[in-house]
Amino acid sequence: MTEFSPGLIRILRAAQHIAVLTGAGVSAESGIPTFRDAQVGLWAQYRPEDLATPEAFERNPKLVWNWYAWRREIVSKVRPNPGHYALAEIQQHVAEFNLITQNVDGLHQLAGSTDVIELHGNIMRSKCSRENVVIEQWVEANETLPRCPRCGASLRPDVVWFGELLPPAAWETAAQVANSCDVFLSIGTSGLVEPAASLAHIALQHGAAVIEVNPTTTSLTSRATFALQGASGEILPHLVKAVWA
Ligand code: OAD
Repeated sequence: MTEFSPGLIRILRAAQHIAVLTGAGVSAESGIPTFRDAQVGLWAQYRPEDLATPEAFERNPKLVWNWYAWRREIVSKVRPNPGHYALAEIQQHVAEFNLITQNVDGLHQLAGSTDVIELHGNIMRSKCSRENVVIEQWVEANETLPRCPRCGASLRPDVVWFGELLPPAAWETAAQVANSCDVFLSIGTSGLVEPAASLAHIALQHGAAVIEVNPTTTSLTSRATFALQGASGEILPHLVKAVWA
């Protein structure tokens, strides 16, 4: 059984507003490869700039579209893991709870979390590359790329690519939440991609307790109020039991 310090339990029990930022690590135990974990990471076989940038899509839309279709395939086959369910449970115990995710797999919603702030979009949605509006249905023409039924421009995944801005409303809310929460949980993220990585520091600056859950150390670990070393699918269910059971 994972032991937690009395101080950590006390802080979580007293918290009126908990904010959470998750990264690919929270979906690792569901079988979705993370981006930067060596050997199994998604980037192990590809270079990000060759796939997840507007230039890559411009240069080779078919390759990019197929890579996302492959990732959508993986996502459609996996299920939330105990870490996702534990976060959905914490939402029931706290007066104010905000879940911010960098993940595009939709697993938090599947596990029952609501009002999830998707900083990097959602891989299961596609949008018109010209009008930037989500397109629910389109005619599949197998040899060519799917086109927007409204204006004919090619469709693209509704995810944020390197060099693109985050959805303004999502970022606004996330920054506000980081700046007003009592406790900020950073779970399963290497903290290497901005501006998401600055949310934990915004929380620290305004005096929130910051708790990191990650099997390895990151640049946040030494600054976190508590650093819980381990897998989120193991740690989070135990944390829920220790604090709210
Ligand atoms: P990374 O792949 O950079 O980091 C995954 C983190 O999860 C690492 O720190 C691992 O140690 C940790 N981890 C692995 N297994 C875990 C587990 N079972 N439980 C908890 N943590 C675990 O993924 P992100 O930090 O999410 O952005 O990457 C951030 C962004 O970079 C992504 O959203 C994506 C990528 O470029 C865009 O595509 C715009």
